[in-house]
Amino acid sequence: MSISQLARSIKASPTLKLNETAAKLKEKGEPVIHLGGGEPRSKAPLDAVLNCSTQLMTGEVRYAPADGLPALKKAILRYTEEQYGRMLAPQNVIVSSGAKQSIMTLLYAILEPKDEVVYPAPYWVSYPEMVKLAGGVPVAVTPEDGSFVPTVPDIADKLGSYTKAIILNSPNNPSGVLYPAEFVAEMVEFCEKKNLWLVMDDLYNRLVFDGKKAPNAYDYQKQERERSKLVVVQGVSKMYAMTGFRIGWALASREVVEAMTNIQSHQTSGPVTVSQWAAVGALSGVQSGIESLRLTLENQRNLMVERLRTIPGVRVTSPDGTFYCFPDFGAYMKDSQKLAELLLERVRVVTVPGKEFGMDGHLRLSYCGTVKEIMDGVERIKWALDPQAPNELILGDRKLMRDWA
Ligand SMILES: Cc1ncc(COP(=O)(O)O)c(C=O)c1O
Repeated sequence: MSISQLARSIKASPTLKLNETAAKLKEKGEPVIHLGGGEPRSKAPLDAVLNCSTQLMTGEVRYAPADGLPALKKAILRYTEEQYGRMLAPQNVIVSSGAKQSIMTLLYAILEPKDEVVYPAPYWVSYPEMVKLAGGVPVAVTPEDGSFVPTVPDIADKLGSYTKAIILNSPNNPSGVLYPAEFVAEMVEFCEKKNLWLVMDDLYNRLVFDGKKAPNAYDYQKQERERSKLVVVQGVSKMYAMTGFRIGWALASREVVEAMTNIQSHQTSGPVTVSQWAAVGALSGVQSGIESLRLTLENQRNLMVERLRTIPGVRVTSPDGTFYCFPDFGAYMKDSQKLAELLLERVRVVTVPGKEFGMDGHLRLSYCGTVKEIMDGVERIKWALDPQAPNELILGDRKLMRDWA
């Protein structure tokens, strides 16, 4: 079969691939613990469910405008005013099938062939593949000191005449680290000066711990709104635990929103109409679910970091937010793909190799599961890596036997 060169250059999403492997093992009755997941386990807000089921029950589910239902755009504008202190117009908003589609459509709208898009490592696995799909060239910036926080000079070093955009994701998937406000401020100024697009992927910005607050790029924007190349990406997936509804959005100048809308209208038309009604419900309804999710995750972060610190040689940076942790297992194995495979094979724990996020030697572990999954998952990893460990590990009613040399 003649599969295109472009398609052949695109890797499958490693997280989705791992989910499939884990599901197959589970089906066979294997005691899998999934620390690879990228979605909260709480339920979608009741207001979201009620609002979309009311619409569904009418039996009239029609195409929505390609840039989103007016009612949802209105709810997003209200949210943006409340959370970002920024009043925008409906023409500054495009609703997409997940934040993923917003970013993809934006890249189609702004990139010329071979344009470069720069982002710090570790980075979300989809950025490089999305940039390639849009005909661009992905450029990762890896901080020299191995830290998870980039500096402006690190980024400036990677810029060339083809650089078109910079993507920042804070708090960050996979490290959970929050970029300092001074860094965000400098980046906004830097991009305005250099006439670069700055994409703020704020998907996790409500899930921040220890009383910290995610910096708001709008606070530092000097350029007039319609001339600005600042794009903020948001969505309901993480903060409302609504991953399956597939609703995200981008906030940008009218010109780019119009270009993105034209593209989206030929890709998917608008996002699924009932999902948009669910998002209206979530944004307009009771908001306490976000805080209770945030608190649960903060406790689970504490537990995971504490447990991981009992494994000799593993270096852990405590996450400021998200539901991911990105410990360095380099003392055990530098090849994170091999390590993840070994952990799945030996102790049936699913992790995501750091290589996929641009930092080998690390594993991404999620703490969005249950307390038991976190405790038992980390205990199994510790046991699997310790050559002196006893031959059997008993956790509750589950007994694992060492069957490797
Ligand atoms: C950093 C980041 N951005 C964007 C997305 C896309 O989210 P969605 O398409 O579910 O809105 C994800 C999902 O995992 C993510 O981790």
